[in-house]
Amino acid sequence: MVQPLAEPAPGADFDPAATVRIGVLGAASIAWRRMLPALTATAGVSVAAIASRDRSRAAAFTERFGGEPIEGYAALLERADIDAVYVPLPNSLHHEWAAAALAAGKHVLAEKPLTTCAADTADLVRLAEVNNLVLRENFTFLHHPVHAVVRNLVTAGRIGEPRHFTSSFCFPPLPAADVRYRPELGGGALLDVGVYPIRAAQLFFGNEIEVAGAVLHVDPVTGVDVSGSALLATGDVVVTAEFGFRHSYGSRYRLWGSSAQLLLERAFTPPPTHQPVLRIDEQDHAEEIVTPAADQFARSAAAFAAEVRARRAGVPNSAAASNADTLCTAELLDAVRASARVVTVSGGH
Ligand SMILES: NC(=O)c1ccc[n+]([C@@H]2O[C@H](COP(=O)([O-])OP(=O)(O)OC[C@H]3O[C@@H](n4cnc5c(N)ncnc54)[C@H](OP(=O)(O)O)[C@@H]3O)[C@@H](O)[C@H]2O)c1
Repeated sequence: MVQPLAEPAPGADFDPAATVRIGVLGAASIAWRRMLPALTATAGVSVAAIASRDRSRAAAFTERFGGEPIEGYAALLERADIDAVYVPLPNSLHHEWAAAALAAGKHVLAEKPLTTCAADTADLVRLAEVNNLVLRENFTFLHHPVHAVVRNLVTAGRIGEPRHFTSSFCFPPLPAADVRYRPELGGGALLDVGVYPIRAAQLFFGNEIEVAGAVLHVDPVTGVDVSGSALLATGDVVVTAEFGFRHSYGSRYRLWGSSAQLLLERAFTPPPTHQPVLRIDEQDHAEEIVTPAADQFARSAAAFAAEVRARRAGVPNSAAASNADTLCTAELLDAVRASARVVTVSGGH
């Protein structure tokens, strides 16, 4: 159901040149470690307020990052001095609070996955479009320049015709209390890390991708999927996605073509100082290309702020295409779940 846009709060005038004033919903680990340092370092962005269910947690965050500490997420959305909201809540709460933010006239940058099902994502996309607001899912890897280097090499024919795209994101078990082990909060490996290989396949092959099958390993103690694999097809390219949190660490993709393979390790969460290395293997030749380091969180923060400014100024941008990408990811996740063979495993954490 599309909700109407609330009346603009007094004083919330949109000057295209003005700073983008951000409010944060939730004193989350990812906000503390990566996204708030990026937002506070971004030119033309100010962190105006941080809300928590607990005022003292909000205060601990504002002490480090600035802004007003606020108790309760709804109170932050009522403020006229907030242009945009960053939502790093547990996955099952993204839809409710992103919808409330959009209805309050705020642009939204929400953590991945944007929601837990395609119907909720479609609802947010409609709400953003009706209210002419920016809605972004914080897939920071999309902002790392290494993937454009890969795309250019592939389109220039460096690996021949692509045949397989294989991608993985796995890491060791988390503390038992982690939100990722709570089904009611949208936990599970597919939504937490399975989203990355799937979004990467879209990056290289577009949105015409179909799910052919999947396996999900579910831990009966917690009730969430702790690992899995999906098989997808796009044109004559086969895509395989591996994901989980009961593995040694791995984050990579491999494009295997008719004449060479291209491998990128640490594909999804490289530290800002890491110089990604592209390895190209041919029959009698191996080559490594070292590419520049980049802070993908900082670039994601800057891209979001730029898009908000462009929207205020009425400048056309790629929002429609990007909303389509976001919706496609959500539909592929639904299809993976629907087609999955569920296998019960023990020792999920
Ligand atoms: N883009 C990335 O690279 C990246 C990396 C890691 C995580 N993420 C995403 O970021 C989101 C948060 O992950 P995280 O690891 O930062 O989680 P987290 O540390 O557990 O933080 C979630 C926050 O949500 C709030 N919250 C509201 N209701 C809650 C409830 N019932 N139970 C627990 N917390 C609740 C809490 O803030 P208050 O108590 O202060 O209100 C909590 O601090 C997830 O969507 C995850 O997928 C993205």
